Amino acid sequence: MKLFIDSGNLKEIESLVPLGIIDGITTNPSLLAKEPGDYREILKKICGIVQGPTSAEVVATEADAMIREGRDLASIDEHIVVKVPFTREGVKACRTLASEGLRVNVTLICSAAQALRAAKVGATYVSPFVGRLDDIASNGMGLISEIVEIFDNYEFTTEVLVASTRGPMHIVEAARMGADICTCPAAVIEALFKHPLTDIGLEKFLKDWEKAQGARAR
Ligand code: E4P
Repeated sequence: MKLFIDSGNLKEIESLVPLGIIDGITTNPSLLAKEPGDYREILKKICGIVQGPTSAEVVATEADAMIREGRDLASIDEHIVVKVPFTREGVKACRTLASEGLRVNVTLICSAAQALRAAKVGATYVSPFVGRLDDIASNGMGLISEIVEIFDNYEFTTEVLVASTRGPMHIVEAARMGADICTCPAAVIEALFKHPLTDIGLEKFLKDWEKAQGARAR
């Protein structure tokens, strides 16, 4: 399963990409709005760092304007994936952009029926929002399982990009279910490194080693 960072922050991206575990980036208008500077330049820099799929979302809401904006975003860098929300207009825009050979990520997916329709119009990725579903007492990861099953049944090539993740267990469950990608905030990726038993174990190894070295020197 591929791992993306859900961020528009260059510092976060620069600190995680060298670890070699990051395959791409997702941004959204809320994330980019927090960053100072020109969003096109930020997206260009992100693409240069990650050298992998980088989702940039349209803010237009009519299909024709979404298509124009999508083409413009795609012209920023070869790694840009055009993100469109799942609306009637977004589905129309996805169909056209995909037919032009652009990669489209259909976002704000909250049901399996939406994911199926996005796949049918050629989406490269669908982004189901698991955390936001959990927030309203729905089963976010249950939705991932449904979408993976449907896409497997019909051999859709559309990839399931698990979005709105809140913790490391979302990543583990997504991998067990056979999702293609998990996109996570930097804090969730950092949390993957933490385990108290690993920390305690390493501390003991180092202490024992130091003690033995001291004893040998005496
Ligand atoms: C995905 O592409 C979205 O940017 C993102 O995962 C939304 O997550 P949130 O629900 O934490 O805002």
